[in-house]
Amino acid sequence: MSPLRVPAAVSSMTGDIIDGRRVADEIRGELRGRLDRLRARGVNPGLTAILVGDNPGSQLYVKMKGKACEEMGMAHQTLEMPKDTSQEELLRVVHELNADPKVHGILVQQPLPLQISVDAAVRAVHPMKDVDCFHPENVGLVLIGSPRFAPATPAGVVELLVRSGNPPAGKDVVIAGRSNIVGKPLAALLMQKAKNANATVTVVHSATRDLAAHTRRADILVAAMGAPRTIRADMVKDGVVVIDVATNRIPDASKKSGYRTVGDVDFEAVREKARAITPVPGGVGPLTNALLLAHLVRAAQKQAMQKQATRLEGAEGASGADGATEGSAR
Ligand SMILES: NC(=O)c1ccc[n+]([C@@H]2O[C@H](COP(=O)([O-])OP(=O)(O)OC[C@H]3O[C@@H](n4cnc5c(N)ncnc54)[C@H](OP(=O)(O)O)[C@@H]3O)[C@@H](O)[C@H]2O)c1
Repeated sequence: MSPLRVPAAVSSMTGDIIDGRRVADEIRGELRGRLDRLRARGVNPGLTAILVGDNPGSQLYVKMKGKACEEMGMAHQTLEMPKDTSQEELLRVVHELNADPKVHGILVQQPLPLQISVDAAVRAVHPMKDVDCFHPENVGLVLIGSPRFAPATPAGVVELLVRSGNPPAGKDVVIAGRSNIVGKPLAALLMQKAKNANATVTVVHSATRDLAAHTRRADILVAAMGAPRTIRADMVKDGVVVIDVATNRIPDASKKSGYRTVGDVDFEAVREKARAITPVPGGVGPLTNALLLAHLVRAAQKQAMQKQATRLEGAEGASGADGATEGSAR
């Protein structure tokens, strides 16, 4: 993470708006150099998404990830499997992809049909290709502070904080939501004794007795509940930095689609008290895709290094064997 040359926040009378699209552009810009170097070595990172069934939300997410790869000239494919696919068949496909050197990252899009165990699917993806960071090995690495890949959305939250000039070190961070994909890994990232972390983290959830008592203490509040506009102005303190991860659809007759997307935070009211705040949409969302690309590049780099090391070991082994042959021939 490099510091911003120009703050990625737009100043206003009230809280600054943290512009996720701009931060995501910046990250993509930084990726280009790494990509060029990889391509010079004959490696173009490739992503494969597996979509089981016809969930419209999943179709859209996978399409957006493919588009994000295309914009960077990275290879991608989506394997569409029928909704009655057996677990055995899905795992067979995942194992084939694990062995394919052109595939550097594998995503098994969730939700999965009931006949497939999410746990089995997550564990089947090779940890080196698990760019979503769902495999228990990668989750564990995040927890002990040496991530191979951090999950894209929590990593995006950290990037937004740091690059908008609101680093978490020493701050009281309250995370609302404890899911495996957002709340828990974000807490693990932010509590590390490390650069861009070092926060004092509180995680609240649906069994928290007094949500507002916690959120009012937050220097940085991250909302990831999926509960539209639950965080009101009286639940935050002056000068809070707010990152709203949630994307909730609420009915809106004025829209052609019949709905609009809002976060967990009452944006306009909370902005009056905030130092900085992310909008929904246009805040965390763009970061998730940008970070996924960054992790795909990282996966390709690591796999290329591993391949080279294996080749070197092979060459050393071969020369050792030759030496033995020569020795015995003498
Ligand atoms: N922008 C992005 O790229 C991105 C990526 C991922 C997710 N999201 C969005 O982020 C939101 C959360 O996603 P998720 O997958 O983490 O959701 P999830 O698995 O449903 O988890 C929601 C968490 O929030 C807690 N919670 C729900 N309502 C609450 C309330 N009223 N008060 C306190 N805690 C409450 C739940 O508590 P319990 O554990 O007690 O049930 C749970 O821990 C969703 O809107 C999702 O669409 C956005």
